[in-house]
Amino acid sequence: LAGDPPEPGHSDLVVVANRLAVDRVVEEDGTTSWRRSPGGLVTALAPIMTRQEGAWVGWGGSPEEELDEPLEPFTHEGMHLVPVALTEGELVEYYEGFSNSTLWPLYHDVIARPEFHRQWWDTYQRVNARFAQAAAATAAEGATVWVQDYQLQLVPRILRRLRPDLRIGYFHHIPFPPVEIYAQLPWRRPVLEGLLGADLIGFQRRSDVSNFQGAVRRILGSSFRSNTVQVKEHDGGARTVGAAAFPISIDVDTITDLAQDPDIQARARQIREELGNPRTILLGVDRLDYTKGIRHRIKAFSELLEDGRLSVEDACLVQVASPSREGVDSYKELRDEIELSVGRVNGTFDTMGHTAIRYLHHSYPVEEMVALYLAADVMLVTALRDGMNLVAKEYVAARGGWGGVLVLSEFAGAADQLRKALLVNPHDIDGLKEAIMEATEMSAGEATKRMKAMHRQLVTHDVNKWSRDFLDRLGGAVPAERSGPED
Ligand code: G6P
Repeated sequence: LAGDPPEPGHSDLVVVANRLAVDRVVEEDGTTSWRRSPGGLVTALAPIMTRQEGAWVGWGGSPEEELDEPLEPFTHEGMHLVPVALTEGELVEYYEGFSNSTLWPLYHDVIARPEFHRQWWDTYQRVNARFAQAAAATAAEGATVWVQDYQLQLVPRILRRLRPDLRIGYFHHIPFPPVEIYAQLPWRRPVLEGLLGADLIGFQRRSDVSNFQGAVRRILGSSFRSNTVQVKEHDGGARTVGAAAFPISIDVDTITDLAQDPDIQARARQIREELGNPRTILLGVDRLDYTKGIRHRIKAFSELLEDGRLSVEDACLVQVASPSREGVDSYKELRDEIELSVGRVNGTFDTMGHTAIRYLHHSYPVEEMVALYLAADVMLVTALRDGMNLVAKEYVAARGGWGGVLVLSEFAGAADQLRKALLVNPHDIDGLKEAIMEATEMSAGEATKRMKAMHRQLVTHDVNKWSRDFLDRLGGAVPAERSGPED
């Protein structure tokens, strides 16, 4: 798969992710520039990266054919960026295909039917090898390489073959399914072997760790003890691999600062005005993805309107659905279904002055999101399955001591930490309706008490702690006997 070992590079810390840490922006005059991506992962790692001569390896966001010339490595705000080129065909087969039509639905409890195509698998292997090559050429002797997420599960093993001197970590941002589901994957062995090329494999929840350990036992016949397993090397030796939970979080300070900004608070008041000052604003914020339970949420809300327990004068649901993976059929179908049901609900219940659902198929800058969090009395996170769900954490960070109620699916990883949310099973529409009513009727005192407890959890577990915990554990020569901080 991988050719000659490259010469070592200069970076002591290399992050490898499907997407680069910067987004390409096209200015009005047609020139392009780069802007640091707003995501939590980038924010958390940027300071460590600039301190440690770090480099970020990832796809630049446009297919190769669209670029006049291939992107060369460059530096942006002190971070070295190493673009990996993908052709249009590779994007279809590796990104839309194997990553998002095979692995994504399989790992999210087969909510959508996963498709298995040998051609996609071949391309996934080829692209993973390319990322591994780029990382191998970037990392200094003995460097730490941290591979991110399901698009790159084969990278740890390929990279270890190329560069046995490296310390390799992998973090899985999405769920790892029970072995009964995982076992459907025709390439279940090479994917596990790919992951086991790492020294440390991180997951969001303890249940993901035990699912992974179960798969390794059943499919590869190796058992974990104290969260470590011995993996045989091709030279006959053995290597210790650790697996533990490191629940990811957000950059709490950034959200807190924005929530205290008078302009953003004024914008929150303006949003309420513009919606006609309903008594309760309910909010959903998701990528438009079938894992997020947007349809279940709309169903529950519309039944409450139908039952007359809520009316458009006293409640409005704001649903932000940011465009996502628009080339994938299941996402196109979901968009049609959601837009049909929003149209139906609004057509039935809207009045001249009030709307039932304000549906926004856009993504917004973080400032506008925080204003929305401040405007919303009730946040609905009803994912059918979600690795973590950072929107739930952002809402808590923005609310701080100001109350507001979080309705949170027990199938989102965040439910392990945000225990004072109103936890729901989103498949149970009656239960969801009751939780929405309880949220809209909750006293300010009770809401504030719950929100404060969740906020306390969050301030001591922000994304900096997450990356520190993972990298500290990875840095240990031998994975500790004791299990990790959260496992
Ligand atoms: C999830 C995945 C990420 C992914 C993100 C956005 O959070 O865990 O790896 O980057 O969704 O999806 P996209 O396909 O647009 O990168």
